[in-house]
Amino acid sequence: MHAKSIEFLNKAIADELSAIHQYMYFHFHCDDQGYDLLAGLFKKTAIQEMMHVEKLAERILFLKGEVEMKVAHAVKKVKEVKEMLKIAAQMEEDSAREYNLWANDCAANADSASKQIFEGLVTDEELHFDQYDTEMENLVKFGDGYLALQSIERSKNISAGRPIE
Ligand SMILES: [Fe+2]
Ligand SMILES: [Fe+2]
Repeated sequence: MHAKSIEFLNKAIADELSAIHQYMYFHFHCDDQGYDLLAGLFKKTAIQEMMHVEKLAERILFLKGEVEMKVAHAVKKVKEVKEMLKIAAQMEEDSAREYNLWANDCAANADSASKQIFEGLVTDEELHFDQYDTEMENLVKFGDGYLALQSIERSKNISAGRPIE
């Protein structure tokens, strides 16, 4: 029985559930403001975090633990795009840092399968960080024109009869 691993895996699920809620909140609001590219990115990332929950839960059940399904943080009611990207990038950075530490702790407790799960998640969270960071750079570089372009793109898609994601 790897009690410590089960504790880390449940903490990770709490982080992932918070990320899902936060990114879906950002998704709704980007969609509402007409920013399809960012709305799509937040939705796609939320779905990937849901798959992380599945992986973590499967491991907990294999270890004969209980999946707690607690949420780590309340959703931040932020509607401004730059602030959204800042929060999202920070969440990814925090998760990657924690998962690295927990991978090491699992290895120290002779649980290399949990260690490998955390290492796999680190790779995904670093990629998520990079995507949010790139969008932030675009926003800084191109200013409001970058957001305006997304709204124009939506109008073009609607008038061309293309489906909006
Ligand atoms: Fe994740
Ligand atoms: Fe992530």
